[in-house]
Amino acid sequence: MSKYDHLTKDELVRLLETRDGRDSTRLGLVWEANEIDRDKAINADFVALDVIQDLCVPQEAPSGGWRNLIVEGDNFDALRYLRMTYAGRVKCILIDPPYNTGKKDFVYNDSFVGENDSWRFSTWIEFIYQRLIIARDLLREDGVMLVCINDESRAKLELLLDKVMPGRRVGSFVWRTRSGANDSKEYFRSVDHEYVLCYANPGFTFAGKKKTTGAYSNEDNDPRGAWNNDNLVKAHNYRQRPNTFYPIFNGKTQIWYACDPDNVWRFSSKDRIKPGQQLRSKTMEQIILEDKVLWPKEERISIYQTKDELIAAIKGGSAPRNLRLGNTEEERQFWNQELDFWVGKKIGHGKPRYKRHLSEVKRSEKPFSSWLMPASLKKDERDELDTEGLEVAVVGGTSEGTSLVQEILGNKDFDYPKPLSLIQAFIRQTTSDDDLVLDFFAGSGTTAQAVLAQNQEDDGDRRFILVSSTEANKDEPGKNVCRDVCARRIRGLIDGYSVPTRKGIKEIEALDGNFAYLKCQRISPGRMLEIEHEQVWTTLQLIHRDVLEPYADEDFLITADEDSALIYIPRFSKELVPAVRKAVKDFTAAVIYSWQPEALRQHIRAENVQHEAIPEVLARRFGMKG
Ligand SMILES: C[S@@+](CC[C@H](N)C(=O)[O-])C[C@H]1O[C@@H](n2cnc3c(N)ncnc32)[C@H](O)[C@@H]1O
Repeated sequence: MSKYDHLTKDELVRLLETRDGRDSTRLGLVWEANEIDRDKAINADFVALDVIQDLCVPQEAPSGGWRNLIVEGDNFDALRYLRMTYAGRVKCILIDPPYNTGKKDFVYNDSFVGENDSWRFSTWIEFIYQRLIIARDLLREDGVMLVCINDESRAKLELLLDKVMPGRRVGSFVWRTRSGANDSKEYFRSVDHEYVLCYANPGFTFAGKKKTTGAYSNEDNDPRGAWNNDNLVKAHNYRQRPNTFYPIFNGKTQIWYACDPDNVWRFSSKDRIKPGQQLRSKTMEQIILEDKVLWPKEERISIYQTKDELIAAIKGGSAPRNLRLGNTEEERQFWNQELDFWVGKKIGHGKPRYKRHLSEVKRSEKPFSSWLMPASLKKDERDELDTEGLEVAVVGGTSEGTSLVQEILGNKDFDYPKPLSLIQAFIRQTTSDDDLVLDFFAGSGTTAQAVLAQNQEDDGDRRFILVSSTEANKDEPGKNVCRDVCARRIRGLIDGYSVPTRKGIKEIEALDGNFAYLKCQRISPGRMLEIEHEQVWTTLQLIHRDVLEPYADEDFLITADEDSALIYIPRFSKELVPAVRKAVKDFTAAVIYSWQPEALRQHIRAENVQHEAIPEVLARRFGMKG
């Protein structure tokens, strides 16, 4: 008797419905969100950004505006702001959050979370979770989220990401953090690697690496172009793939070739196709007709007049090596029948090959490997490894990041920046053109350097948004990592800097770029009317444009591209109407934000014009209730 026997049909259906309706994400991570102190950063305030012009580079906006942003503040505030302006627009989110090592790497409510904090892991997970659920809304459909993590916290973070981004797990990348081996704990094990976890929808692809086409040439002037000499067989034996095990015939020389019993032909014969079977590739007969088989040029030919003669040759080792006698009874029976075919035929001992034209190669790149080649490997170590896939990215260890930041800033004010080569490899692999990259745990700003350096390398127009906290805490209330490390580093790169070397001063060439420096300001929901015109104008530009220009104290502000205009009217008066009408006249579309949209609508009623109300539209986009 089963434990369900007493239930009626209706009761059983209800039971199934309840069970099926349960959240399937119950398989996963559990943490004590209710036991830990509330994260003071989590709040319901509206967020605005102030442009701190003294810290922008250049200070006066370049023509066309600043293209990149560095945002100072807690990333919970910054992310809610960015969701209002950038939802669905970011191609790559690349973050390197604090790893929760217990060694003062993680500030929560103004204090470091230490090794002995009993809620250390729950606090860390809750902290990251609250940010990730906002961040995922910023990603484009074909966007990718990359998250750096160490061995100790990888499993927890991966489960958390599975929960936040169901169905989007791509996998993890391993990189070597150092070449020297240190036994960290009592296991005599040196932990020399970290991970980059990757989440994306199926539409996303890595760039890969251009395949070398050196193996292709055209010595016979084939009108179909360059080709290479490839295998005509695949790695299955005649028992696994009996239908692609058959003899082939060169009509020009009248020579037959036996199939290798351990590696059968890669194409099917038209004679072996089952009725109704659809082939994805050509048949062997078509391949031969199209002159795509490279027949052996000079080879031994054998003819056996009787089966006994053939069997003797096989036993004596002089027959073509693809003809066998078999080891088991079953095999012997098979070969006994098979050999009848070969009696009296002209048999070639050589190996027909496949003439693969370059035009057939589906992708000219090889895929991005999950193993990243450490730059520290010496040549003989590289040779020992199968580096075919690995060499898609060669990345340095942690010390590369440390020395680079020290070189640019002239001090050791930042611990454990990521190596530029690692971050740049991911920027190269995941973005192109004018894609937007976001790092909301920016630290020393390696991601921004990677974006600018990659633009320089491939003439790209990628843009970055970096968010960094000040890291101010009880012990160091005046600390400002965002301003004094991150922005300073990127300013150094854009201005160019010099490094003292043993041979004298070395000038490092400036990277092309600019950025606006912005600071988060909270505005409590009841005080939205106090939002400043500068803050409104910044937000409207970031919603509608890819660049940012500073506020100017004008009657109305306008920015436009070829066919659409964005207008903000800080203070409405009837005298403004003729100028605004004139300004919108030539655009296919114009959106006018003002504090009196109804009054404006009375005066400007063109079809191409849309009126929006400040501050209501911002509150709505921000997700404020009421
Ligand atoms: C591991 S570091 C990132 C290092 C960076 N990848 C680099 O190469 O320099 C993590 C950074 O996140 C910042 N951070 C921590 N909590 C933050 C928060 N709530 N908001 C913004 N930034 C935060 C810390 O200031 C720290 O610099």
